[in-house]
Amino acid sequence: PLPTLNTNSNFTPTHMAQPIRFTIQPLHRFQGASASIKRPREIAHFSYDDNHVYKEDESGIQYFYNPQIGADLRDGFNTFRHYEDKEDPHLDSLLKTLISKEKREGERVQADFVTWRGMMTKIMTAPFDMFASFDMFATLHQGTIYIEEDFQAKAADHAAQSNTQTRNSRPNYLPSHEMMTYWGYKFETLSLLPDTPPKTTRAFIENRTKAVVSNHAQHCSIVRTAFGSHSLVLGGEVDGLWEPKPSNPDAPIPWVELKTSEELGQYPSERDILKYERKLLKFWAQSFLLGVSKVIVGFRTKHGILRTIDVYETNQIPGMVRRGTRCWDGNTCINFTTAFLDHLKRTITEEGVYKILLRKKSGVIEVIKIKDDSTGRILSKEFLEWREKI
Ligand code: A3P
Ligand code: MG
Ligand code: MG
Repeated sequence: PLPTLNTNSNFTPTHMAQPIRFTIQPLHRFQGASASIKRPREIAHFSYDDNHVYKEDESGIQYFYNPQIGADLRDGFNTFRHYEDKEDPHLDSLLKTLISKEKREGERVQADFVTWRGMMTKIMTAPFDMFASFDMFATLHQGTIYIEEDFQAKAADHAAQSNTQTRNSRPNYLPSHEMMTYWGYKFETLSLLPDTPPKTTRAFIENRTKAVVSNHAQHCSIVRTAFGSHSLVLGGEVDGLWEPKPSNPDAPIPWVELKTSEELGQYPSERDILKYERKLLKFWAQSFLLGVSKVIVGFRTKHGILRTIDVYETNQIPGMVRRGTRCWDGNTCINFTTAFLDHLKRTITEEGVYKILLRKKSGVIEVIKIKDDSTGRILSKEFLEWREKI
């Protein structure tokens, strides 16, 4: 139900407590040709090294090279070097990279929105996922809206989920949640090389099956993109390159996104196909936002044996689903996102901190002002101090 309007003239509700609601349904509002979208263009990048230390370079870039089919994704689980943020990373490394760029170029990076790609994936896919939920914070600073994830809410959500899983005890023959997470990173290790052959030797390639799996190192691309009239600067991890970066800085970068999924088998049920095409929405949106041109899916058995790989052109995925189950529509996602960004611009008009939240199955995204002044912890001290100067 909509919030009831208070007609008692003695009572003026504070703007702070009043959520501004954006209803997702009905989706026909967002159907039709998509709002004009610009191809994302990289404006900066950074890496994390093998200890997850920030590096302002390309050291984290890897190259796709066909993995060994038949490999066991479970191998090496006991030596997995699993990195998980212990503290809230906010937008710090993204902002750090922007500061360096602004120092080099002597001007501010201007955009309507700055955020991690992950936040935009959540928004973009919400129209076709009833179970989607998220918690974000936003703030307006010098004409730009910065959006970050609510780290504590996410941690609480994960804890609640793993509690449910512990209660509904899993049969022993099924892999644990940790094991399934490992499979994704193991597939990356089996499919990527630090350099292109022949700079990487045959022996190295063959030994990938024995390499220690770690998710500490990363490479992140920061792009400028747009939805309709809204300009965005987005940062996100890119898994690898299909071929070396082109020398022309305006040419698209041949990034690839790696994914694993359970094999469909020779006679998949309609339910299995639907489940897979729903997954394709996440793969597509995530890749589309950074201009990643290919999605490479490693199909595995229920128990983690790599069976086949499929290479999709990202921009062909929406068409595949349109010819298939039609369980989602890419243009609707783009138009929905454009409309929602417009809503944010009209709502987040003052200084302070706002919460953006979606509860599963509620069908409504709420924006609530939770702090009247400052930018909370969304913007780093380093960034605020730098922006005073330029
Ligand atoms: P899969 O996507 O193949 O399962 P990304 O695909 O975004 O590059 O992430 C790489 C891997 O990180 C994933 O591989 C998965 O193993 C793990 N991962 C990413 N997001 C996750 C999440 N929300 N929960 C659990 N594991 C996740
Ligand atoms: Mg990744
Ligand atoms: Mg991936």
